[in-house]
Amino acid sequence: MSIAETSMSQWTEFTDPNLEVLFSEEQIRDRIDELGRRITADYGGKELVLVGVLKGSCVFLADLMRKIDLELTIDFMSVSSYKDGTKSTGDVEILKDLSNPIRDKHVIVVEDIVDTGLTLSRLLEILGSRGASSIRLASFLDKPEPRIMKDIKIDYTGFVVPNKFVVGYGLDAAGRYRNLPFIAVVRDPSVI
Ligand code: IMP
Ligand code: MG
Repeated sequence: MSIAETSMSQWTEFTDPNLEVLFSEEQIRDRIDELGRRITADYGGKELVLVGVLKGSCVFLADLMRKIDLELTIDFMSVSSYKDGTKSTGDVEILKDLSNPIRDKHVIVVEDIVDTGLTLSRLLEILGSRGASSIRLASFLDKPEPRIMKDIKIDYTGFVVPNKFVVGYGLDAAGRYRNLPFIAVVRDPSVI
């Protein structure tokens, strides 16, 4: 849509009627406060590395880290999961690896959403071979219904979502909607 068309439209990106809000900004803030308190208590005194999985986790990581009152560093990984049609195959290519070793570190992998779990399970396998003291998982959303890798344990979950395509707060649909300050269900994905 052009700038002229956008400004003439009665709706903005955030008020798009094709979006049905699932979790509001306030709900998200409260939940992240709570997760931050829990992580702070669980790791009391330990040094922590938060590993964000790009790009979807960037908003969650930015908010969560400011609620963790511990000495911590952040790092990022970017992986591409090969899809067979629309289904994730679990084959993962590392597009960007960590900048620093995680040997002897306490790591929390920070994800936007766990869906089938195929990408994440491969990622955890890769990170698991690098001698970290501990590796836990924080995922902003948990969509359990399509899960294939049933043994994935999410240690810190923001919200559980139904088996629908959700966007916002870092999650995208074809690159769009990451900037929504809330989580929404796309009512009609064919008109994105
Ligand atoms: P999987 O767990 O290997 O199926 O892949 C999970 C990845 O797919 C997530 O990290 C997201 O980037 C993306 N994804 C899965 N479900 C959704 C959704 O509902 N909205 C946006 N992205 C999603
Ligand atoms: Mg992701």
